Amino acid sequence: MKIGILTGGGDCPGLNAVIRGVLRCAVGKYRWELTGFLHGYKGLIENETVPLNLKMDAGLLQRGGTIIGTSNRDNPYAYSETIGGKKVVHDVSDRVVDTYNKNGLDALIVVGGDGTLSTALKLSQKGLNIVGVPKTIDNDLSATDYTFGFDTAVNIVTEAIDRLKTTAESHDRVMVVEVMGRDTGWIALYSGLAGGAHIVLIPEIPYDMDCVCRKIYERKGRGKNFSIVLVAEGAKSVKGEVTIKRTVDDPTTGVRYGGIGNILGDEIEEITKIETRVTALGHIQRGGTPSAFDRILCTRLGVEAVNMIAEGNFGKMACLDTPDITTVPLEEAARNRKVDPQDSVIKAAKDIGISFGD
Ligand code: F6P
Repeated sequence: MKIGILTGGGDCPGLNAVIRGVLRCAVGKYRWELTGFLHGYKGLIENETVPLNLKMDAGLLQRGGTIIGTSNRDNPYAYSETIGGKKVVHDVSDRVVDTYNKNGLDALIVVGGDGTLSTALKLSQKGLNIVGVPKTIDNDLSATDYTFGFDTAVNIVTEAIDRLKTTAESHDRVMVVEVMGRDTGWIALYSGLAGGAHIVLIPEIPYDMDCVCRKIYERKGRGKNFSIVLVAEGAKSVKGEVTIKRTVDDPTTGVRYGGIGNILGDEIEEITKIETRVTALGHIQRGGTPSAFDRILCTRLGVEAVNMIAEGNFGKMACLDTPDITTVPLEEAARNRKVDPQDSVIKAAKDIGISFGD
């Protein structure tokens, strides 16, 4: 057997741990050949490959990023290239099928988030033997309890809150911390709870500035002269819109969020007259070593993907259905999941006094 693997979308801690799990099971156990396609779907479109062998697995478990590269723009159904000096965006999915056949693949493992997995579904409907593995720090896929990378991101943000709290307390300041998550507030919610933020603002609950400031005043009234305001990049006020930082050549969303932290920080300082500082954690949340939880999840998902191929269980994604690893059809894999404002985690957070600005 000969199989391929690609990692698509934004990178995320644990991608290499998945590659290691696949490598050890596919090459070590089954003695198959494994080919890595470089930079996500681009490698599959342009036939850019690297053979993956067991000598390469040293240090992969803990290594951040992805050794085969990734891309969040190269979609085979809307591929951008320059032909005869003119930029065109067109469907090159037949080239993907050619590359798959040229490489003599029996199956392909696609590791990615909603955009990458939606494309995987279309390619599987085109006849390729595909299995998916759910990745994203945003945790916004409904078919799995958790996506890998999320736990690591939550740990990174939690540590940042711990550190910002000591400086906020020393200076009697408000610290605004902006975190990633696109249209969902999973990272903000979980790290807000873990780090003990006082105000958590998420896209699913539009916030009211009066409520935000009331919470800061209420804390001040109790002698707590500092506050931590954790804001998800996709959060918006009841009166406002989401804050777009830039438009990008990415056919899935076309935009990147960012900047709400600064807007919010300025407003809080102006209204409360309390000195306010803003920290946008940005790509720090996606870099470096995966947590122990993510290493275990990645290893299990990688092994499951290989076993799915061994069983001919194609057109599906491996997922976590705690405590088991199971499979779901790719049709269900790319469905987006938002935080439910009635979620028990939100309720617990409210019960200990965390404000969501509502
Ligand atoms: O989907 C992962 C993610 O990190 C989002 O949380 C964020 O909005 C986006 O990717 C950032 O993308 P880029 O790396 O292109 O700036």
